[in-house]
Amino acid sequence: MDISTLCVHGCEKKFDTTGAVAVPIFASATFAHPGVGQSTGFDYSRSLNPTNVHLEDTIAALEEGSHAVAFSSGMAAVGALMELFAPGDHIIASDDLYGGTVRLFSHISQKNGVQVSYAAALGDIEKKITPSTKAVFLETPSNPMMRVKDISAVAAITRKYNALLIVDNTFLTPYFQKPFFLGADIVLHSGTKYLGGHNDTLAGLLVVKSDELAEKLRFIAKTTGGCLSPFDSFLIIRGIKTLAIRMERQQETALKIVRWLLEHSAVKKVYYPGLQEHPDYNVSRRQTSGFGGMISFSVRDGQTAVHILESVKIIKYAESLGGVESLITYPVLQTHADIPESERKARGIDECLLRLSVGLEASDDLIADLKQAFGNVI
Ligand SMILES: Cc1ncc(COP(=O)(O)O)c(C=O)c1O
Repeated sequence: MDISTLCVHGCEKKFDTTGAVAVPIFASATFAHPGVGQSTGFDYSRSLNPTNVHLEDTIAALEEGSHAVAFSSGMAAVGALMELFAPGDHIIASDDLYGGTVRLFSHISQKNGVQVSYAAALGDIEKKITPSTKAVFLETPSNPMMRVKDISAVAAITRKYNALLIVDNTFLTPYFQKPFFLGADIVLHSGTKYLGGHNDTLAGLLVVKSDELAEKLRFIAKTTGGCLSPFDSFLIIRGIKTLAIRMERQQETALKIVRWLLEHSAVKKVYYPGLQEHPDYNVSRRQTSGFGGMISFSVRDGQTAVHILESVKIIKYAESLGGVESLITYPVLQTHADIPESERKARGIDECLLRLSVGLEASDDLIADLKQAFGNVI
């Protein structure tokens, strides 16, 4: 079945006998037992809820994994994921990550005795492996510099050292990238972004292929309690129905905007993996079926960046990405503000950098909005 059909229909609706086309919201915290020692399969919604199970099975099918666990946000999913590790364990992460993930690694994981080191290039990963290394964590394309990591090449290293490979697939979703086919063990999503797609709810998902990992994550989820509410689950299920068409259109518009930005004299650099001159263009072509709808670009100076942020009208100056509304973000003050300045600068995240999440508005309107926001900046 084509992925766009799977997006529309989701997995089999196991818990409905009415023929409801849309998945019902099972707004029940608890479930009655038919008898002592008996269960319908559902006891308490912190552990399992039928609406959530529909979402979990759908994302597992889309990613071609076998199990998924839903969380109240992407960060709740990262937090739960880190509970797989114990004091003394070591994780290697790609160096360009969503700032909230870095914050969690620096302030929560380190405090809990899990050491996280960062690797910029493939060669660095193997050099940083120690006997305590339990996992490699990749975000690809990365946030906000749009670097693409070679998932298969990293998987060859994690297999050799018996470590887990975790891939944050938020930016491309299974529509454009299938990390399990490339050797990942765990796929992570901020469902808040493209999966939900409407900037109206938060969600996180962890998807796995192994029963053992699924059991551990389900135990962590029910124990720590960061579960998704069935109402929000319904919104993510509804969002996924249009994922294919949104991803295609957002990418198409992104390409038009990239071309426009490249021509503007105030734009110093455009970071988009679909550009042939992008350093990771070939890896990206090989491992994905699309480049997505996220663009980062650097303008001449900080003043120009602030002018653009304060002048856009249709495009909103707001954090987040992947929704139908186009959003422009200032990583230095928003998503990556908590990263120490020296580290930020080393990654190229400075006052000139802007990140644009292309939505579903007409490309001509978005370009006209950018044109007026750039104004007389030449
Ligand atoms: C790539 C990536 N992963 C994870 C997260 C965290 O997700 P959430 O905001 O749903 O907690 C974000 C948030 O921006 C993100 O961009």
